[in-house]
Amino acid sequence: MAELTLSKRALNIADSPTLKINALARALKKEGKPLIHLGGGEPVFPAPQASVDALVEKAHSRQIKYTPSSGTPELKQAVAQYTLANYGRKVGAEHIIVSAGAKQALFNFLLAAVQENDEVIFPAPYWVSYPEMVKLAGGVPVAVQPQKGSLQVTLGELAAAITPRTKAILLNSPNNPSGLVSDAPFIKAVVQLAEQKNIFLVMDDIYHKLVFDGKTCPNPYDYSTCGQNLVIINGVSKLYALTGLRIGWAVSENTSLISAMGRLQAQSTSCNSDLSEAAATAALLGEQSCIKELCSLLQRNRDVLMEELAQIPHLKIQQPQGTFYSFADFSYYNPDSQALAQYLLEKALVAVVPGAAFGLDGHLRISFCASQDSIVEGVRRIKRALENLTLKEDEIL
Ligand SMILES: Cc1ncc(COP(=O)(O)O)c(C=O)c1O
Repeated sequence: MAELTLSKRALNIADSPTLKINALARALKKEGKPLIHLGGGEPVFPAPQASVDALVEKAHSRQIKYTPSSGTPELKQAVAQYTLANYGRKVGAEHIIVSAGAKQALFNFLLAAVQENDEVIFPAPYWVSYPEMVKLAGGVPVAVQPQKGSLQVTLGELAAAITPRTKAILLNSPNNPSGLVSDAPFIKAVVQLAEQKNIFLVMDDIYHKLVFDGKTCPNPYDYSTCGQNLVIINGVSKLYALTGLRIGWAVSENTSLISAMGRLQAQSTSCNSDLSEAAATAALLGEQSCIKELCSLLQRNRDVLMEELAQIPHLKIQQPQGTFYSFADFSYYNPDSQALAQYLLEKALVAVVPGAAFGLDGHLRISFCASQDSIVEGVRRIKRALENLTLKEDEIL
């Protein structure tokens, strides 16, 4: 039988490098290798008790059905409360769509807003999925590079990337992979720029409460005059350590956008999981101290990681202000981050994610959501492997 051809769309899409690393790490562990996984994107923290109780209660009801496509009224109410508490903005059910994770919320946005060849701008380093998701929606991803040595673009660099074909700016702060937070003057200027240019501004706020040293994230609504072009993406995955529920949402006062996203979702996944929505509602309405506890743990982990990385000569690193990722410049050892990550996986049995996947080669993303013991041992192994690398080079010279 002749080979059946697949769509150009499918063939043009790259694998998710982070999910690939996870799969590789799992496989090595299964083989019994003493692998240390510093490439992960989820906190090693138990789910909030309230969400587990709600999930079990829902399961015991034996009523596990389709739910309203864009989210249950209870969950939308909880998201509205969350939006009021965290953004000072009163929104209604018509401004909210609940999706299968922040990822589907973002994807729904792109499918609803982006026309063939529209450009979507985002600063590098960026979350690995942005370029592929924009391409899947028929758009053109435009990654804006910061100046050499910096991990944050300036307003001028971002503004210079805008063309008549620009449909949206996509910002992620605190940033995966750098852990850096965009400051208030920058957010204010980008909100104003997007309004002036009449383009969407999508804030991927999935880490917005995972910040350290008493920092808070600037609120884009403080600077928005109409709210029509502003879309806030959020979810329970990171803040509540509930990655497995697959619940995220988008909030926008642009009701045409939200209902278009709803129609797209209704014709793709129909609705979210009934069990997950019950559990996510309980997480949002329950005791919120779990977020503070998670932040304290992550801040301690960050400090441990920084101390260990400081022992490795020739690294350049900016201290993460949030998330659970660090993004150090390892280019002294090898400017090809893919090759370096592969070397560390093989020789040190430590999984990290190459910076090339985030649009900035020469860097490695090292997560600090693992245990402190793993962080210490993992970085020490990296140090030894890098020493061997330089020793070998010296021998060759
Ligand atoms: C920046 C960013 N946005 C969105 C997501 C997706 O989150 P979710 O698990 O809710 O789909 C991630 C997950 O790693 C992320 O890092």
